Amino acid sequence: TPVVVLISGTGSNLAALLAAAAEEQCTYEVVAVIADREAPGLEHARAAGIPAKVVALRDHPDRAAWDRALTAAVAAHAPQLVVLAGFMKLVGPPLLEAFGGRIINTHPALLPAFPGAHGVRDALAHGVKVTGCSVIEVDAGVDTGRILAQRAVDVLEEDTEEALHERIKAVEQPLLVEVVRRLTAAR
Ligand code: GRF
Repeated sequence: TPVVVLISGTGSNLAALLAAAAEEQCTYEVVAVIADREAPGLEHARAAGIPAKVVALRDHPDRAAWDRALTAAVAAHAPQLVVLAGFMKLVGPPLLEAFGGRIINTHPALLPAFPGAHGVRDALAHGVKVTGCSVIEVDAGVDTGRILAQRAVDVLEEDTEEALHERIKAVEQPLLVEVVRRLTAAR
């Protein structure tokens, strides 16, 4: 089952998806990786010989044009599922119209708590003792879509944002792989 992955960052979730895809009897294939900037994570795709493309907002006249370009770049690979793996932009109406119900995102907090770009920092600042990660269906809101899977992670007394995020990523990666496998097996 063809899957397109969108990233903005280091791509550790992408790396986990690629590693699982290489295993025998995997239910999906990553057919392209698209980023909104020169994300370091694009190297994972290039190393695996997978098409990697940057569609940057600044290369387009406005947000709507970027949304259309991003949608065209994704649609060119005809994915059954679109996975946002550390993609730091909201997806606009064109992508939602083209792939509605088939776009998922991973978030480093237990939604609906701590949505937005700083889920780890916000959870830490609030003083919660347990946080975690969520894999959700993407809708037009900010981290408001249907929750598909979650895992809890304890917050430690001496935690920093970096340390906590690392421990969240360690459970987030296998969780994302599990959900992508499940969704692509069912299609
Ligand atoms: C992940 O924790 C994701 O949930 C968050 O940013 C991180 C991206 O990590 N939005 P990576 O780029 O997959 O390494």
